[in-house]
Amino acid sequence: MTISTATTEERSLLAALPVEQKVRLLTGADSWRTHGADALGLRPMIMSDGPAGVRGITMDERKPAGSLPCPSALGATWDSELVYELGTALGIEARSKGVDVLLAPTLNLVRTPLGGRGFEFFSEDPELTARLAVSYVRGVQSAGVAATIKHYVGNDSETERWNYDARITEQVLRELYLVPFEACVREAGAALVMAAYNSVNGSPMTEHERLLREVLKDEWGFTGVVTSDWDANRSTVASAVGGLDLAMPGPNPFWGQALAEAVSRGAVAEELIDDKVLRLLRLARRVGALTTSPSGSPGAASPGTPVLADPSLLRRAAAASFVLLRNARDVLPLDLAVIRSVAVIGPNAALPVIQGGGSAGVFPVSVSTVADALPEALAGQAAVTVTAGCRTWTAVPAPAARSLTDPVSGEPGVRLEFRAADGTLLAEEHRTTTVLAWWGDGLPAGIGWGETGSIALLTRFRADTDGPYAIGAAGVGRLALTVDGEVLVDARTPVPADPVETMTRPGEVRGTVHLTAGQEVTVGLGFYPADDVQGPLAVRLGIAASPDEDTMLDEAVAAAAAADAAVVVVGSAGSTESEGYDRDTLNLPGRQNELIQRVTAVNDRVVVVVNSGMPVLMPWADRAAAVIQAWLPGQAMGYAVTDVLLGLAEPGGRLPVTVPASESDTPVLHAVPDGGVLNYDEGLLVGYRGYDASGATPLFPFGHGLGYTGWAYESVVADAPALAPGEDLRLAVTVRNTGPRPGREIVQAYVAGPWQGAGRPVRVLGAFGCAAAAAGEAARVVLQVPARVFAVYDTEAGGWIWPRGDFTIEVGRSSRDLRLSATVMLG
Ligand code: BGC
Repeated sequence: MTISTATTEERSLLAALPVEQKVRLLTGADSWRTHGADALGLRPMIMSDGPAGVRGITMDERKPAGSLPCPSALGATWDSELVYELGTALGIEARSKGVDVLLAPTLNLVRTPLGGRGFEFFSEDPELTARLAVSYVRGVQSAGVAATIKHYVGNDSETERWNYDARITEQVLRELYLVPFEACVREAGAALVMAAYNSVNGSPMTEHERLLREVLKDEWGFTGVVTSDWDANRSTVASAVGGLDLAMPGPNPFWGQALAEAVSRGAVAEELIDDKVLRLLRLARRVGALTTSPSGSPGAASPGTPVLADPSLLRRAAAASFVLLRNARDVLPLDLAVIRSVAVIGPNAALPVIQGGGSAGVFPVSVSTVADALPEALAGQAAVTVTAGCRTWTAVPAPAARSLTDPVSGEPGVRLEFRAADGTLLAEEHRTTTVLAWWGDGLPAGIGWGETGSIALLTRFRADTDGPYAIGAAGVGRLALTVDGEVLVDARTPVPADPVETMTRPGEVRGTVHLTAGQEVTVGLGFYPADDVQGPLAVRLGIAASPDEDTMLDEAVAAAAAADAAVVVVGSAGSTESEGYDRDTLNLPGRQNELIQRVTAVNDRVVVVVNSGMPVLMPWADRAAAVIQAWLPGQAMGYAVTDVLLGLAEPGGRLPVTVPASESDTPVLHAVPDGGVLNYDEGLLVGYRGYDASGATPLFPFGHGLGYTGWAYESVVADAPALAPGEDLRLAVTVRNTGPRPGREIVQAYVAGPWQGAGRPVRVLGAFGCAAAAAGEAARVVLQVPARVFAVYDTEAGGWIWPRGDFTIEVGRSSRDLRLSATVMLG
């Protein structure tokens, strides 16, 4: 056991504190705050979710956030410098909002492309994830904010995430799943580690002595705070002894008084408690929550004017993450000399999914859509039509604020009333969204889970077309919808399996009304929250025109046939990718495949833009002229897609995950626990390693991405022909831009070694770097392959060994497009 080193000042402060007060500090004060202690000059520390924006402690459109490309998009940049820049922007935004601790980044690996939270992971490869995560953490922490690496470990899928037991061998843990965590602890000094909900090899991660105390704290020398995932702590002695330092949120029935009692009866040593408090104090000092100032008062937590991430950075980052998967006949960038009309088609053109669901969600400061941004950019140059083509939503989408009027204030938006059980008005407010959630602050007393009060939402809705409109109310509890005072539907929805689903996929009640263009109706929603539910309280009103889908498809096909080019924006629906549950298919939702098949049959310049955080099946890939994987790109989506279509920016990304040709080719598809056990039977053969081992040909391999220029690989030189065990390898690679315009290339080095054999990968990513060169010019990139990439974890010996022999270093454009090689002898 390690008692973390502490200053004399910290030790004497601690000695003066009674055990109850020490223990009090180790449980959250509420959803997002820790306790302060005047005796220690410690103020509460404030936490906020990430990783694609700093939400703050409320889910509120009046407190918006910069909305970044999702982490899998950051993975696609393969660009540590850009990720550092984005991390720094997040840190600055957090600081300006009074946030001390950012609950990000997420370091789990894409074990299965169906993982609901895959959009929140950087990649399927440990080394790519580690390099980008180190930059992310360094960036965030450069602003004086603490980063939290999560979810330690084995939380690579969502089904039964609260309870499953991931069975992962020590070797697989060491060589894959622990790699990004170890790198962020050792290289970036990550301030917090979040212990996951799940168990690993029989022990809950919040109690895991081996992984928390022995590996993380003793072996890697982690001196920061291990926090639980939210409500993950479900024991007193086991978690305290196992290595958990902070139970979040508070109150937590297992710590607090119960922990103080465990100390007084000798079940938990007081020095263990001291170690936890010292870790917390070190964190406080780091973020300015523990005073060292002459005034004797702690650094202020109070927010100033929010400094949101720079929109031009977010636009540049999104374009840099887009992966050009295919570009037949160089259809992109669009040549406006021959293209005079463009049909923008697809459900995600006007209703994009800019972020994944769950705790990573923010209220973006603004959202640009392809349906708005492309016509704006082409004004005066080409005619643009916009049609949805089909419908993918499963919950009725929120109406635009401009179609709503608050009946009390007359402003665009809605009126919210909070009422006690007897109908007394407790509070009311004007809001500009119909997507509402409270998670922590913001609700009047008497409203919430297990309370008797209710929330009413009132608005006047103005239809802009003739036809049927779907009106839906979503939330957990009783929902009563009225239109012009008449009851449309009044019903209860079930309590979901995972608390986060109260926000991401609550049950919905729905009705249909027929409206004419310009008609206004008053819509009322009464929400009576269910008893006995945990998690965020959320309610949503959706109103959307619902024309016949066959007609929608026919209209889109006609628009494509009449245009010189079509841009088809397809992808996930709002609830497809989320924390709390996994996807059950890699197919695009709804009739999107049919839409693309029909559109490509009538137009030979079809560009498909895929708006999903994880891969989807693309049975139409060879019929589309171009395909861009655009991820969940954050607020700048429309602008960034437009920049790339028009050639103002290069689609700079490379795949951080393999895109399979069929579901059956994926090394791991469904991660469904069996009797509570989730076996990681594929061992080391995750992602491209699995495809290499099985011989399956991916539709688009790991590392693939075309950009707008061509590259010749001219030479690779290793700095030494032989390497000693434990030594890094440096390589110099020269590439030449053979295309017509400046560009950026991601140079990838894979290592194939004498350790090949049963269950071991054919090759693994060793290093990567960005080369930038003008047309015709060469660029030299120096890559550093860490010594560990050559090593094997020997479970019996309990350490790393470096096999002797020849290693082949393969350098190229993707894991399946290797252009150069060099041999290095290890021994
Ligand atoms: C998620 C964490 C998140 C926490 C607080 C949990 O459900 O797994 O990633 O930081 O909630 O929102």
